[in-house]
Amino acid sequence: MNRWTLRTANTSYTVEVPDHGRWAELSAWGPRGVEDGPSPLAGHGRTPFRTAADAAPAEYLPFGLRPFGGAELDVRRPGGERGSWWQFAGEQPTEGAGLRLAFLDDLLGLEAVLCYETVPDTDVIRRWVELTGVGADDLLLARLDSAAVNIPVPGGARLTYLVGQWVQEFQLKHIQVERGTFAIGSTQGVSGHEYAPWIAAQDAAQPAGPATPTWGISLAWSGSWHIDASVDSGRLLRLRAGREPHEGEVLLPAGGTLITPQLLLAFSAEGLGGLARVWHTHERLESGPRGRRPRPVLYNSWEATGFAVEQDGQLELARTAAAIGAELFVVDDGWFANRPDDTSGLGDWEPDRDAFPDGFGAFIGRIRDLGLDFGLWVEPEAVSPGSRLLADHPDWIYRVEGRPATLIRNQLLLNLGRDDVRKHVLTWLDKLLHDYPISYLKWDMNRPPTERGRPVSPLPRPADLDAAHVANYHHILAALRTGHPHVMIEGCAGGGGRADAAAIAATDVVWPSDNTGPQDRLTIQHGFLHAHSPHVMSSWVTDSTGFFDTRPRSPRFRFVTAMAGVLGIGADIRAWTVEQRAEAARWITWYKKWRATIHHGAVHLLGAPSDDTCGVQYSAPDGSHEIVLAWNSGLLNGLPLLPGRPNRLRLHGLEPAARYQDEATGSTYSGAHLLHAGLPCAWRTDFDADAVVLRRC
Ligand code: DGJ
Repeated sequence: MNRWTLRTANTSYTVEVPDHGRWAELSAWGPRGVEDGPSPLAGHGRTPFRTAADAAPAEYLPFGLRPFGGAELDVRRPGGERGSWWQFAGEQPTEGAGLRLAFLDDLLGLEAVLCYETVPDTDVIRRWVELTGVGADDLLLARLDSAAVNIPVPGGARLTYLVGQWVQEFQLKHIQVERGTFAIGSTQGVSGHEYAPWIAAQDAAQPAGPATPTWGISLAWSGSWHIDASVDSGRLLRLRAGREPHEGEVLLPAGGTLITPQLLLAFSAEGLGGLARVWHTHERLESGPRGRRPRPVLYNSWEATGFAVEQDGQLELARTAAAIGAELFVVDDGWFANRPDDTSGLGDWEPDRDAFPDGFGAFIGRIRDLGLDFGLWVEPEAVSPGSRLLADHPDWIYRVEGRPATLIRNQLLLNLGRDDVRKHVLTWLDKLLHDYPISYLKWDMNRPPTERGRPVSPLPRPADLDAAHVANYHHILAALRTGHPHVMIEGCAGGGGRADAAAIAATDVVWPSDNTGPQDRLTIQHGFLHAHSPHVMSSWVTDSTGFFDTRPRSPRFRFVTAMAGVLGIGADIRAWTVEQRAEAARWITWYKKWRATIHHGAVHLLGAPSDDTCGVQYSAPDGSHEIVLAWNSGLLNGLPLLPGRPNRLRLHGLEPAARYQDEATGSTYSGAHLLHAGLPCAWRTDFDADAVVLRRC
């Protein structure tokens, strides 16, 4: 028996290859030391009507060896039978902390290397598989998951996942699975609005709370994907995740190697909140030095002017934005020629001369003279039917020869996986960033691929269009970051349609949703923060009443909500009164002072927006202070006319004996008081949210 233990900051993950050598299996995964004892995953008893492989907590198995329980890999030769029956071929050397376990199927000509990597200073392990055709024949892969993850769940599985649709992304949901399979995914060529490629699991026998052992996975893939969660008769939960090839089968040419996307694994002994902190730490480290740059307070003109972008209106907005303390002015959709609405203009990307009669460069210069950085919206994958680009290159879009191409939002999608399209997109973006002093790029994508073919050039071999598109999307982002390191990039896909771990690693911030209505936004952000860090969560203060959520909430509520991540303003501030502007300036000043803690502090999610009061606590890394953002998420009516007591928010992670002082009111509390009695929130109709700084004294 071969046995290896991977160690992260606080956890360990032990893998064994039994003497029969047919698979690797998980022996223990949890807090450090959990491997010291008999494996909680080891099966016992016979497996009538199944094979031992079906019952095993196997790390990765092909159909063939695992015929019934769900295989991670489904492979055949063209015209051949499905299945692989491989044998352990040894451990391969790794660079850095990790593990590589090779399995070989001589007959089929397939080598599969199960790869593991621990991420220093986090509790995250990365897993992926490298598949190589080592025989004379090509191979076809109908399923090529990144990994399987086994979790013992004696009481059945309690799964937490993020579900949604456009303008309702990242809704946190729970489901209990005693037996059977629960599946989520996307076939939209992006991670999608419907589900995030992220799931958390607990043993349902343990009450949900801040001390519940919690396991999670997140698939770093910006294309189509699936995750399924099956609980078998042995009360073993098996999470399987991978990409979903559009063509059904992917070609692995003889001699070629195919690398699956990475599946990120995380464990926390501190419930869903603890798991969120593990993901946050990981995302901060992934962001590297870029992540530590202060995120500028932006103004984005989309909700104020829509497509009616023109110089004077934008400059008026910019002057007001600068006066209230914004640091960056972003012109959204509508800045380029032939874009009076969403029916035309995409693809040609020439600044609209009528809208900017003095020239686009002069316009940007005037924005910058106001002391603001300049940012611009682009949708590089999109093309409008009447555009010059489409007339010149009708074969650059996804289309099936002889079939009509479906329009969504009146536009078509470029086949970014083509080399010529990648070069074209990178060239014009690169030129745009060279020609103008742009320091922020919002990359949007507003339609999924439908007729996903490659017109004109019939394919000699099965294509892998999804992988090619995703690879080039990431390639362009990486090239832009290298060529223009000062430019921050916002990832957006009609709101939160492409906010997976890989897209987040390739950008600086993401736009979680087009819904900025404060009460709805609170729910979206609550879900988002379970999976992703505040320093990537862009959020705007918009006008009341907004597009999607007309429930009345004060400007205070709107600011405190948007300050929970990366603050932006999206309202028509030209119409704001002097008092409103003064209030905005006060909030922006407050936020600038404390944003480093909001973006880099340890997050404790206090309650949920479905509670009467909820909040988010950010603990400064050096322990010197706590920031608490709190909202009256319950009824507004009657406060404070009815008898009662202030709502309270119980804080987390404080030392009971320490003392804390509220910077604004001077009130002092012991840690024990804040932990057990809670921070009082005396809501009134005009006081429906609060931003509190508690200094440790
Ligand atoms: C969808 C985005 O999510 C919005 O923020 C905005 O940029 C529009 N597209 C513009 O068309």
